[in-house]
Amino acid sequence: MKTIREFAGAKAEGRKIVVATAYDAWSARLLADSSVDCLLVGDSVMMTLYGERDTLGATTEIMATHTRIVARHAPEKLVVADLPFLAVRKGAAHALDCAAALLRAGAHAVKAEGVRGHAEVLHHLVESGIPVMGHLGLTPQSVHALGGYRVQAREPAEAAQLRADAAALETAGCFSMVFECVPAALAKSVTASLKIPTIGIGAGTDCDGQVLVLHDLLGFNPDFKPKFARRFVDTAALMKTGVTAYADAVRAGTFPADEESFR
Ligand code: KIV
Repeated sequence: MKTIREFAGAKAEGRKIVVATAYDAWSARLLADSSVDCLLVGDSVMMTLYGERDTLGATTEIMATHTRIVARHAPEKLVVADLPFLAVRKGAAHALDCAAALLRAGAHAVKAEGVRGHAEVLHHLVESGIPVMGHLGLTPQSVHALGGYRVQAREPAEAAQLRADAAALETAGCFSMVFECVPAALAKSVTASLKIPTIGIGAGTDCDGQVLVLHDLLGFNPDFKPKFARRFVDTAALMKTGVTAYADAVRAGTFPADEESFR
């Protein structure tokens, strides 16, 4: 995919949208050469690359830096970049500045968490020509208010709120929205009620697409395996095998071999 218009087309035609996170040159190049539709420069970069406990440390500068690298190394892909913590809570002018920095860095769209209290700001971004992807359910920037990384909207009142929030995002002009960690049946019914596509992570199979953190789907962290993520390959084990083989070969004197040496 190269434009956000293809998101709407995919929903209309019943084609699943595949999104994965990318943060740096190698991950962008890997995904550039894949059938993944859209690259998300997620603020999860703070946890995957910087090793922090949450995403709150992301700044516009950090997000713009990673966005610039990803856009440069995956020029044919649609790139969505996360607006950092509180970017949409300081008024429309501040949100515009943050979004502009991400679009100037090469993003085609921005993603913003939540909608209550800042629907107007999101609408203003959209009206300013900035495509916005929403994000509901478990919104990691609110981890402290939510009391941890847990499934959301299990209770009827919360489910009704999620339904209303999703409708508000659509009204604000968002081109799609992420549902993170919400019951599959709820995600299915809200997805059916919306014209714009939903992208699930821990939200069952009936969203219009799926997103995963690249490091989770590739199994980079042997100590982190959330219920909703599948390790499609055990990269941590492969890397350990490679590093052990290298160290063993150095100690055995079999590396470098003749063909790896200069005469
Ligand atoms: O930051 C991120 O990677 C995200 C996805 C998990 C949706 O927001």
